[in-house]
Amino acid sequence: MNLGDSPVRVAGVSGKLRDRDYRIWAMMDNGEVLHSIAQIAAGAPSGRSLMAETVSLLRRERPHYNWVGIYLLEGNELVLGPFVGKPTPHTRIPLNKGICGAAASSGQTLIVDDVNADPRYLACSLETRSEIVVPIVREGSVLAEIDIDSDRPAAFTEEDRTLLESAAEILADNL
Ligand code: SME
Repeated sequence: MNLGDSPVRVAGVSGKLRDRDYRIWAMMDNGEVLHSIAQIAAGAPSGRSLMAETVSLLRRERPHYNWVGIYLLEGNELVLGPFVGKPTPHTRIPLNKGICGAAASSGQTLIVDDVNADPRYLACSLETRSEIVVPIVREGSVLAEIDIDSDRPAAFTEEDRTLLESAAEILADNL
């Protein structure tokens, strides 16, 4: 492994390995992630690129976010926009289906600790164990939603909810 070209993403220090400098850093905290999304929003050439960069950032900065995507509300359907992770068969989800449909219909964040115990769940990957869906709401209307799957059971905490609801606010103001 070439540490000079490929920084290792664990908490630690910078230093030298043999004759090479290496960088080791901690994951961004919630404030840093939100600051980065706001910076992306300020410079993004389009809503699509803002969404694409945001899902990549979230995937990169939170190891328990195994699949990160944004669904856009079009009529009575959620249509898959930018995502990072394995392809999903659920590229269009009616509002009365899935955890995604339930979150969009209620306008409220949904956290499901055990997707296999939730009859609403539409499976996207066999590895997925838990899910969070956060609506992106502008002036009382749902525009879209952030959907994240984790391979860990009960992976999503109040800290994730706080982060993602703030991220959704930035997106709502900039899409
Ligand atoms: N699990 C979602 C479907 C989308 S995939 O997770 C990407 C649901 O139940 O609505």
